[in-house]
Amino acid sequence: MSADRYPTEQPTIVTCGLPYANGDLHIGHLRSLVSADVVNRALNRIGQDSIYVCGSDMHGTPVAVNAAQEGKQPDEFALEWHERFLELFPQFNLSFDNYGHTHDETNTELTLDIVETLEEGGHIYDREIEVAFDPVEEQPLPDRYVEGRCPYCGEPARGDECDEGCGRHLEPGEIEDPVSSITGNPAEYRTRPHKFFRVSAFEDVLEEFLDGLEGTANARNQPRQWIEEGLQDWCITRDIDWGIPYPGEDDLVLYVWVDAPIEYIASTIQYAESLVDEDYDWREPWRGDGHIVHVIGRDIIQHHTVFWPAMLAGSDYNLPRAVCAHGFITIAGKGLSTSRNRAIWAQDYLDEGFAPDLLRYYLTTTGGLQQDIDFSWRKFGDRVNGELVGTLGNFVYRSLLFAHRNYGGTPDVGVSPEVEREIQAACDDLREAINEYNVRNVGLVPVELARFGNEYIQRNEPWHLLEEDPDAAAQVIRDCVQLAKAMAILAEPTLPETAATLWAQLAEDGSPGDATLAESLVAPPSTFEAPSELFEQIEEERLDELSADLADRMDLREEESEEDTIEPARIDFETFQSLDIRTGEILVAEAIEGADELVRLEVDIGSEVRQVVAGLKPYYELDELSGQTVVVLTNLEAAEIFGVESDGMVLAAGTDAKLLTTVEPADPGERIR
Ligand code: 2FM
Ligand code: ZN
Repeated sequence: MSADRYPTEQPTIVTCGLPYANGDLHIGHLRSLVSADVVNRALNRIGQDSIYVCGSDMHGTPVAVNAAQEGKQPDEFALEWHERFLELFPQFNLSFDNYGHTHDETNTELTLDIVETLEEGGHIYDREIEVAFDPVEEQPLPDRYVEGRCPYCGEPARGDECDEGCGRHLEPGEIEDPVSSITGNPAEYRTRPHKFFRVSAFEDVLEEFLDGLEGTANARNQPRQWIEEGLQDWCITRDIDWGIPYPGEDDLVLYVWVDAPIEYIASTIQYAESLVDEDYDWREPWRGDGHIVHVIGRDIIQHHTVFWPAMLAGSDYNLPRAVCAHGFITIAGKGLSTSRNRAIWAQDYLDEGFAPDLLRYYLTTTGGLQQDIDFSWRKFGDRVNGELVGTLGNFVYRSLLFAHRNYGGTPDVGVSPEVEREIQAACDDLREAINEYNVRNVGLVPVELARFGNEYIQRNEPWHLLEEDPDAAAQVIRDCVQLAKAMAILAEPTLPETAATLWAQLAEDGSPGDATLAESLVAPPSTFEAPSELFEQIEEERLDELSADLADRMDLREEESEEDTIEPARIDFETFQSLDIRTGEILVAEAIEGADELVRLEVDIGSEVRQVVAGLKPYYELDELSGQTVVVLTNLEAAEIFGVESDGMVLAAGTDAKLLTTVEPADPGERIR
């Protein structure tokens, strides 16, 4: 059964993946934090009762290992980072209704309560397993204490995840060729009793859950694959002394991934408890008719679509309505790396003096949520200068300045039908975008409206009308002022600081963060002061400097010249003609059993139908692929990929497989020349 469209009568909570309280935050973390903030603000703008809750992830080896490296106790270390996060978040206008942490009393008590319920329900059992052990140090090596090879894809893997290969969660004992990440000593496996959560018993529940799950396609498709391969039960304890002690077991703590998502509930409880003059029933979203929306990175899909919903189902909580899993961020095509200082750090960005809204806009509107973003200062600058300065800022400034100079504020006439329609259409677009969790479109809607505004003002030339036809001039400017007000409300989710500035320039009371879309057509006050520019152009030289600094810091220059320069060796035209590239229409798109990324396509290339294997699964819904016009290299040698013959290649751009297509409709089989 599909859920009601937003706005619904019931409350919604939005969360983002809990950052580990173990170090500085970078643009990778910000992508989660900001996207969830945008979702929550957009839901509120369309009239949905929604709150944003989250907290710091304090436990587990990611915290313990870093604390040990600094010679600190993990609780002291994690709390320090938690406090720093609390100082940073307002600077990016992250509007948490509550931000707690997993080590606090609320979360600890709730976790123990949930574990007890799972035990009573017979969902937890004891099993002896092999765990990695450093025989020299006589130390157990849980999770990040051990490194080795992924048993599934053979890539180097660390502890509980295959972070450089297939991305799978790894159970204790699974990693091959284990060594201690602390001492480098080869590890041995020793038998230890542990607690297991019977995830396998939730197969039917999870299948039904996935059938109704909203959010991004990757969050629905990847877990289906894991279920098909057979769900494994999940080890929920660790031999480590940092975490929530497992009840009745002196030397075991809960695996960090048990108590971390429970913080989503604990944080909602704390929010309810923090209210003085209002009532909020935290049970509504978690046990009643309300809704839960999780925004996460795509590396933690399995935790949020398999383990977590199984835990919720086993302890009588609601399952999420939506899981929105965003892509990664790379720099010069390489993954962010804390240890290699390959990142744009949140604090460094602010120290550069850039407004937080610029990065919020860039991170949420560069490609769809699922797509990876390859960050560069150049691309950042182009988007800021083109869309924010050139389109949105330019429209608002010229309109409000004209209105102030000639009318002292909003001219005293009604809005024209054309502009009213345009504003209503933009509001509909925002409603549509957030109902599809399309964070990118949420950010683009106000910019598109500004594009219309610029065209409208240019077409009507009010500067000429002032003398020729004063009524017509007043009408045009009245329309532009209303467009500007609508933009403030529509831009608020993505650009909250800019929207608040614009709101004040229009002499509106309160904040656009308290307004709903209905107010987009209510006239602004009749008088307002001269505006100032909303955005500042970023100079080319500044972008050059920032790019050079980044390249130096990450040793990118050489790599860039190796990887990014245009291929110097030229080919002659005949060689090009020897490539038989044609348009094709996808007739069938099916998953390939056992392959996380691959799909089997049947593509009509005019004279015949070809079977082609392509790595599109993380980026597209299968049914969205059928009927698409694609570009196919038809005379590539056939190959067998994952046991399936691939006869041709579907062309796509970038690391996130953006399919190539034609601007005009094309019949299958048309030759690319
Ligand atoms: O991967 C991480 O960074 C984890 N700290 C995310 C936890 S999200 C949640 F489930 F708690
Ligand atoms: Zn792997």
